[in-house]
Amino acid sequence: MQIAQISDDLGYESYQISVYLCPMEQLLQQIDAYKKEVAAFEGATPDAAEEFRIKYLGTKGIVKNSMGEMRKVPNDRKKEFGQLLNDFKLFVEDKYETLKRTNSQLPTPNSQLIDLSLPGDAVAVGTRHPLNIVRNQVVAIFRRLGFAVAEGPEIEDDWHNFGAMNLPEDHPARDMQDTFYINQLPSWLLRTHTSSVQARVMETQKPPIRVICPGRVYRNETISARAHCFFHQVEGLSIDENVSFADLKQTLYFFVQEMFGKDVKVRFRPSYFPFTEPSAEMDISCLICGGDGCNICKHTGWVEILGSGMVHPNVLDNFGIDSNKYTGFAFGMGVERITQLKYQVNDLRLYSQNDVRFLKQFTGVV
Ligand code: DAH
Repeated sequence: MQIAQISDDLGYESYQISVYLCPMEQLLQQIDAYKKEVAAFEGATPDAAEEFRIKYLGTKGIVKNSMGEMRKVPNDRKKEFGQLLNDFKLFVEDKYETLKRTNSQLPTPNSQLIDLSLPGDAVAVGTRHPLNIVRNQVVAIFRRLGFAVAEGPEIEDDWHNFGAMNLPEDHPARDMQDTFYINQLPSWLLRTHTSSVQARVMETQKPPIRVICPGRVYRNETISARAHCFFHQVEGLSIDENVSFADLKQTLYFFVQEMFGKDVKVRFRPSYFPFTEPSAEMDISCLICGGDGCNICKHTGWVEILGSGMVHPNVLDNFGIDSNKYTGFAFGMGVERITQLKYQVNDLRLYSQNDVRFLKQFTGVV
């Protein structure tokens, strides 16, 4: 028996009686206590598992220290204690493995992944595509003149794209608009121009008709700086009684002034399109050199921006519109061409390469 003197915080002394244990028994009790402690250890973080490892399995940890106690054990009990300590060691290692496994299954707490002091990730905001900017501007100008927006399919049939527009099969003008056909369905194609939307509108609407038709068109062209297998057009169609060539000219002149400014000059050149008679191409004075002559205008001072004309009576008749009573004008312009002039873009391929360095230059333009 051993009597130990202890004192409490207030200085009163009291006596506690404890049972004297030999070193081996103490060791046994101690290991038992450790086992309970190990079994109760909880920790769901990698830090806790590491703390456990250092405490029990580290070089100065409890398992190692307990092994060191073996020297106090008399020889005849060494085997028994050796076994006991080994079991204890395995028990601790097992617990450590369990802790590690639980940690790897648990999602790492956000607090460890997120450094709240870092600056936030910038959110990239896209910009409008230059072709859409220009298309919207064109459409807005014509809407102010009372034109409504009409759209049609990009996969079109031969009739709407060619036949109805006075381009019958074997018409030589079809050569200029070779496109992509479907072998199994030879009468279907990717539309070559937005004039096909004229056909779709006349099919469903009665005059007065006044529409603007923006859209993508396709041609079988080798891609280069000046040609592409797809591009964009805006078509216009106005049909009513007493519509004249003067209306066509004034409408397009108004458009040019709104789009490019009051100083830009306009000229009409006679041309040929199967769906209009008479037909004309419209040029504007070169915006790049102001008419003095440069590479863009091929040193003529003028650049062509659209085709136009009075709707051919055959086209009206194709849709049961009385060509003796009604007349109309139509026009079609390339959006790429207008954009090229407005923003001095010299290579058509830039529009579809999706290079952010090109596209971001149009930031701020609506
Ligand atoms: N469709 C023609 C083309 O793609 C452009 C065009 C010319 C449209 C004259 C028209 C027009 O409406 O009247 O080349």
